[in-house]
Amino acid sequence: MKEMRKVFLLDDDDLIISMLSRALQKAGFEVQTETESGGALQKIRSFSPDVVMLDIKMPKPDGMDILREIQDLRIDTQVVMLTSDDTAETAVKAMKLGAADYLTKPFHTDEVKIVINNVIEKERLKQEVRFLRKAYSDFVEKDIIGSSGAIESLLEKVDRIAKARVNNILITGESGTGKEVVARHIHNLMFEQSGSGHAPFISVNCAAMPESLLESELFGYIKGSFTDAKSDKKGLFELASGGSILLDEIGEMKMDLQSKLLRVLEDRTIRRIGGKSEMPIDATVIATTNKNLSDAVSNGEFRKDLFFRLSTFYLHIVPLRERREDIAPLADHFLKIFTTKYNNRCIKGFTPEAGRVLRSASWPGNVRELKNLIERIVVLENTEMIGPEHIPGWITGGTMYNGPKPSNGFQLPDSGIDLENLEKNLIQQALKKAENNKALAAKLLNISYDSLRYQVKKFGLEGG
Ligand SMILES: Nc1ncnc2c1ncn2[C@@H]1O[C@H](COP(=O)(O)OP(=O)(O)OP(=O)(O)O)[C@@H](O)[C@H]1O
Ligand SMILES: [Mg+2]
Repeated sequence: MKEMRKVFLLDDDDLIISMLSRALQKAGFEVQTETESGGALQKIRSFSPDVVMLDIKMPKPDGMDILREIQDLRIDTQVVMLTSDDTAETAVKAMKLGAADYLTKPFHTDEVKIVINNVIEKERLKQEVRFLRKAYSDFVEKDIIGSSGAIESLLEKVDRIAKARVNNILITGESGTGKEVVARHIHNLMFEQSGSGHAPFISVNCAAMPESLLESELFGYIKGSFTDAKSDKKGLFELASGGSILLDEIGEMKMDLQSKLLRVLEDRTIRRIGGKSEMPIDATVIATTNKNLSDAVSNGEFRKDLFFRLSTFYLHIVPLRERREDIAPLADHFLKIFTTKYNNRCIKGFTPEAGRVLRSASWPGNVRELKNLIERIVVLENTEMIGPEHIPGWITGGTMYNGPKPSNGFQLPDSGIDLENLEKNLIQQALKKAENNKALAAKLLNISYDSLRYQVKKFGLEGG
């Protein structure tokens, strides 16, 4: 059965009260009335109506005072003001203060019903939108977008690792490639989707605090084990029990703590600082880093045994520039997220030209950089289609070839070469790489747009 909607009426005019309450009850509302404003607020609170109707003109506190109180106390209800002609101006003020609508006396009961139903419906829709927006953004944050071979094979591995419920995982990749999303995804597969209820996911940045603090955070301590240990404290390994602990930037962990971590991973037990007993730990340890750990091992910065221990289940996320097929779906995905978040209804998509520019940028900040760019465009631009002109120069600038120029080290073979043919061939390659975008192709060759056009004509490469 549908729950009855409630209306609270406050007016010092008995006649209005009886007329309104009769009409509203007949229309199926549960009604409570009051002719004195004194204790009205308390009554509104305990009745918790969908709509409160307040007479503006009454002995103090009047309708406006009550409206202000309702707003200040954040009482969850909609307010409709009842005004007479000479208080119409006040009604406008009331709307500015947050009233949902107003009715001018004398009113017809049908009019009252329409106004109240509209106010209730509007609020219901607002809540629904809020709910859907939240559900939507929660949903998208957990998703891993990408259809490149690299992402597909990564997801396959992730699936197997999650099913096997392994104890430690290492995820590597440049900054912004999505190590944390992948870690959360694994956690979700392991715990949330398998119906284990709400499992903890605890993230610790190993680079963010001094070693001794990190140690006491991770392991916890016993009261009195050092000066600041005023009481027992659980460590994060314990708190992550039944879920996962993400050790972010593991490459920055000091050697001394690395040995302690290795012991945890091998024995699957921890001992609080100053504690006597070992406690079993039951948490998946996910370590991430953007360092090359095997280099760090060679340099003596990272323990070899810990590296081996961690790298049994090892996932590497390749930089975005090495999986360009993912750029378009990621851009569309972020566009959807941010147009929803910022309620920007104007932007519909990207022009093919913009798509090409995004696809050929170098993305040193990887997915995070792309995400930030799309957010920036959604907030700042008022356009239907995002074109190359909306993409800042520092992104497109990155499309230029940044590595060592092969021409610098080019060795002329003794037999000589066919320079014209080589030139033609390189231009063809550049056009292909740039998907026939001449401006981009020119950038790849470090020549001007005009000279590229001239060459294209010269070699008859138009349209090919
Ligand atoms: N494949 C993907 N699909 C959807 N969103 C992604 C993907 N990869 C990364 N992101 C988004 O990009 C942003 C950066 O990702 P994340 O924080 O996981 O990077 P990271 O590798 O941990 O970077 P850092 O090394 O700087 O900590 C996040 O907002 C994340 O949601
Ligand atoms: Mg991260």
